[in-house]
Amino acid sequence: AAHLLGIEHLHPTEITTLLDLADHYAEQNRKGIQSKDVLAGMTQVNMFFENSTRTQSSFELAGKRLGADVMNMSMATSSVKKGETLIDTALTLNAMHPDILVVRHGSAGAVSLLSQKVNCAVLNAGDGRHEHPTQALLDALTIRRAKGRLHRLSIAICGDIAHSRVARSNIMLLGKMENRVRLIAPPTLMPSEVSELGVEVYDDMREGLKDVDVVMMLRLQKERMDGGFIPSEREYFHRYGLDAEKLSYAKDDAIVMHPGPMNRGVEIDGSIADDINRSVIQTQVEMGVAVRMAAMDLLARNLRERRAAGQVVTV
Ligand code: CP
Repeated sequence: AAHLLGIEHLHPTEITTLLDLADHYAEQNRKGIQSKDVLAGMTQVNMFFENSTRTQSSFELAGKRLGADVMNMSMATSSVKKGETLIDTALTLNAMHPDILVVRHGSAGAVSLLSQKVNCAVLNAGDGRHEHPTQALLDALTIRRAKGRLHRLSIAICGDIAHSRVARSNIMLLGKMENRVRLIAPPTLMPSEVSELGVEVYDDMREGLKDVDVVMMLRLQKERMDGGFIPSEREYFHRYGLDAEKLSYAKDDAIVMHPGPMNRGVEIDGSIADDINRSVIQTQVEMGVAVRMAAMDLLARNLRERRAAGQVVTV
């Protein structure tokens, strides 16, 4: 593919190919071996219109470990603040001939629209409530390494699913790889299209967590609640926060995941997040660099091939 815009259009074999390459990069990273030739001579521009700690820093590290020249656009100080549109901003950058654009934007579909206006590879680093494909891929790699497989697992995704692009991308990826996905959330935080997602639905944590292999917790995304109902944090933690008692309903060897940023004492008890026997939250961060290296490596190969065949047209 020319871009990585979402999980929706990926084939299971493409997911496996990417995860295999990411596994290789994860091992290289652990050994401190860099592969500067992979993106040598290429320019990567990171455009984050929304805040980020993990995604932006890991895309930057991934590009540098593969030898790209990496530029982080500071969107807070850019001319977007003077009214320049996303597309005009993209066309301006495109005229500087980048090879890879990494884009996070608050509107669903914005990154896809942008990809149609530029002649380089575009990676979606999160667009509104729509998709966060590299997050789902790093979660998949973390699960595969912890469980030894990525199929026929029971996986519970818990919390604010309605506002979560992480949940949407994970539901699609885990479903494509033939896992059983359970969603656990209060009815107000369940997406309206839940019956079309091919998942099991629960509003009770103990019932939903029974015998699962993987527990994936999500933050309450108040910034997307548009003035709607926001639960009290104390009440929410009591009913939906993951603590040792609720986790005891999952399998004894179930792993605990969280994409971050985490709100301790709201959706997860701090002692569970820090329990190295259960929590793989730091491994998720580690796999984030490896997955982003693999995604940019594959897109750069595709871009070089299309350029050699004269297929990359100047827009
Ligand atoms: N998981 C995730 O996307 O984190 P950031 O918002 O910090 O990038």
